[in-house]
Amino acid sequence: MKGCKMAMVRLVALIVLYTSLGHIPSSLGVILRTTDKIVWANEFEPIELTCLIESISTNNPRIEWKKIKNGVPSYVYFQNKISGDLENRAQLREPANILIFNTSRADTAEYRCEVAAIEDQRDFDEILISLAVRVKPVVPRCSVPESVTVGTSTELRCLENEGFPASQYRWFHNNEELPQDPKTSQRFVNFSYIINPDTGSLKFRRVRKEDAGKYYCQAKNDAGNAQCPPKTMDVCDVDVLGIFLQSCGGLMAVVTLIFVIYLMKRLCCYKSVYNGNNYNTPAQAPAVDYADADEGHFRHKSSFII
Ligand SMILES: *[C@@H]1O[C@H](CO)[C@@H](O)[C@H](O)[C@H]1NC(C)=O
Ligand SMILES: *[C@@H]1O[C@H](CO)[C@@H](O)[C@H](O)[C@H]1NC(C)=O
Repeated sequence: MKGCKMAMVRLVALIVLYTSLGHIPSSLGVILRTTDKIVWANEFEPIELTCLIESISTNNPRIEWKKIKNGVPSYVYFQNKISGDLENRAQLREPANILIFNTSRADTAEYRCEVAAIEDQRDFDEILISLAVRVKPVVPRCSVPESVTVGTSTELRCLENEGFPASQYRWFHNNEELPQDPKTSQRFVNFSYIINPDTGSLKFRRVRKEDAGKYYCQAKNDAGNAQCPPKTMDVCDVDVLGIFLQSCGGLMAVVTLIFVIYLMKRLCCYKSVYNGNNYNTPAQAPAVDYADADEGHFRHKSSFII
C-alpha cells in the first residue's frame, strides 16, 4: 500500500511540475497585444492606441513608442516622456497605451510600441499599429456653365482635395438628388447624364430644356460632408441666327481672302512682266500677243513665280 501511495504522490508532483513548466515560458517573457492594429480616427478628436502587456515579470519595463512616417521612424515616447510630433498632445496610459488628445491629419502614420523587460527570458516585444486620421471634406469648387444650347453636350465639375479618405460626390438638381445612373430611376429615365462619384463630373450627352435649373454638388466621406452653393444653368434653343451669322462671317472671310489673293497676284504679275520687259527681253516686249493680254499676263505670272 505504501508503494502505491508513493507512486500517487510522484504522479501528482509530475503533473504539477508539468503544468507549471508549461506556464514558465509565458510568465518569463514579455508579450504585447493590441485591440486594433488598424485604427481610424476623426481629425480633432481624441484617440487611444492600445499596447496591452499580456505577460511580463519585470517590474519596470522600458516602454517606447515610435512613429513611422514614409519609412522614417521618430520617437514619440522616449525616456518616460512624450516627445517629437506628439509633445504636449498626448499622454501614456496604463499599461503602455498612448492617448492623443486632438488628432491632426499629420498624425496619419504607423506607430510602434516597444517594450523591453530586462528580467524576462524573452526580454523584448513590439507591436505595430497603423493610424489613419479621417479629414472632413472642405467646400468643393463647382463649375456649372451659365448657359448651354439644347442638344449639345456639357460637363459640370465638382472637386475638393482636403477630404480623407477621398470624397465621393453627389449632384443635386433643383434640390433633388440625381441618381448616379438615371436609367435606374423611373423619374429620371429620360435624362441623358452620367455622374462619376469619384471625380465629381456630371456629364450630359445631349442637354434638354428640362435640364435647366439650379445645380449644386456635395462632397462626402466618413468624416463629414460639404457642398457648394447652387448655380443656375440655362438651356437655350438652337441659335439659328447665330449659326447663320457665324457661317456668313466664315463665307465673307473666305471671299475676302480670295479677293485679296487675286489682287496681290495681279499686282505681282504686272510688276514681273514690267521688270521682265525692262531687263530680260526688251526686244521681245512688243511681240506679246495683244489679243488676250490679260490671260497672257496671268500665264507669265505663274511661270515667273515657279
Ligand atoms: C484641436 O486642434 C484644433 C487645431 O489645432 C483646434 O482648432 C481645436 O479647438 C482643438 N480641439 C480640441 C478639442 O482641443
Ligand atoms: C420620357 O419620354 C417618353 C417619350 O418621349 C415619354 O412618354 C415619358 O412620359 C417620359 N417620361 C418622363 C418621366 O418624363
